[in-house]
Amino acid sequence: MDKKILVTGGTGYIGSHTVVELQNSGYEVVVADNLSNSSENVLDGIASITGKKPVFEKIDCCDKPALEAVFKRNAGISAVIHFAASKAVGESVQMPLLYYRNNLVSLLNILELMGEQNAPHLVFSSSCTVYGQPDVLPVTESAPIKPATSPYGNTKQIAEEIIRDTVYADSRLKCVALRYFNPAGAHPSAAIGELPNGVPNNLIPFVTQTAIGIRERLRVFGSDYNTPDGSAIRDYIYVVDLAKAHVIAVERLLAGKNRKGVEFFNLGTGRGLSVLEILKEFEQATGVEVPREIVGRREGDVEQVWADPSFANSELGWKAETSTGDMLKTAWNWEKSLCSRNIQ
Ligand code: UD1
Repeated sequence: MDKKILVTGGTGYIGSHTVVELQNSGYEVVVADNLSNSSENVLDGIASITGKKPVFEKIDCCDKPALEAVFKRNAGISAVIHFAASKAVGESVQMPLLYYRNNLVSLLNILELMGEQNAPHLVFSSSCTVYGQPDVLPVTESAPIKPATSPYGNTKQIAEEIIRDTVYADSRLKCVALRYFNPAGAHPSAAIGELPNGVPNNLIPFVTQTAIGIRERLRVFGSDYNTPDGSAIRDYIYVVDLAKAHVIAVERLLAGKNRKGVEFFNLGTGRGLSVLEILKEFEQATGVEVPREIVGRREGDVEQVWADPSFANSELGWKAETSTGDMLKTAWNWEKSLCSRNIQ
């Protein structure tokens, strides 16, 4: 019985969408989350889509005895998808130790318990942040890892190293590390989506909050980048497409198809869009205008990065399928649903 999966951070943004896709594919899901940046209500959103509430364990993955108890209470967990982590780049500069502790201690606990509890498969949430500003675009998995520009980025680089060393030392353990580009959008049902804590740091929730009138205007960070319109370029990937890649990664691990102890995959669309292009796409897709002002660059931002996703396309048989316009429509529908429920 290989069908029980532990999802840490399963009430978070990418985690909750992944729980939906796992349940829709017949997996039994155990969610472990400390709710530090999410809400237990997300479980109702998941249940309204899939018809089933996942098992919920409110624990902190930095607490090893608590995590061990989760494995014991839910016998038969065969793989872990580890999302639980802190992710705000700016905050990580202010509170580096919190980031190192939270993101790395939790990973150490997971890796130790995978060996001890005979759950040897891990899907790890990594990030395109490991590439910094790549010299060659689109960026492939073999591009050099550049010095991190923030403690957050450094935790992802160090985490990849920890995983590499661990699977080398213990050949039973296998990992697929997924390097996400910029996830965006929400489930088409608008039952789950991104729930930023306070003022959003990320572009798309700030765009939708501005469009609905919560924020006065969007600040476009930087107009003097070496890009066609001067604003920074990213690869925005639809969160449901991203979630589906996790199911494929789990299946690959459980089927013993991974070729190395740890494999790295870029998850992006292969298309770079500037901030101004995103605003244009949003306005076209929704018919709603987004007031904006152009301001200086944001500290720590890279100029441009987008994925070469061909390795994931060929090796995982996975492809980002959703258009940018459709993705932005789901983000907008989600914002409207939050507003109608008075959540923001
Ligand atoms: C960053 C990290 C990424 C991480 C993500 C999680 C880097 C290089 N990337 O993504 O690894 O997973 O945060 O939070 O460290 N922008 C505006 N106005 C705004 C907000 C954003 O113009 O109000 C611009 C940014 O300057 C950037 C783009 O929009 O050019 C995307 O920003 P954001 O959504 O914050 O994501 P990243 O910084 O790319």
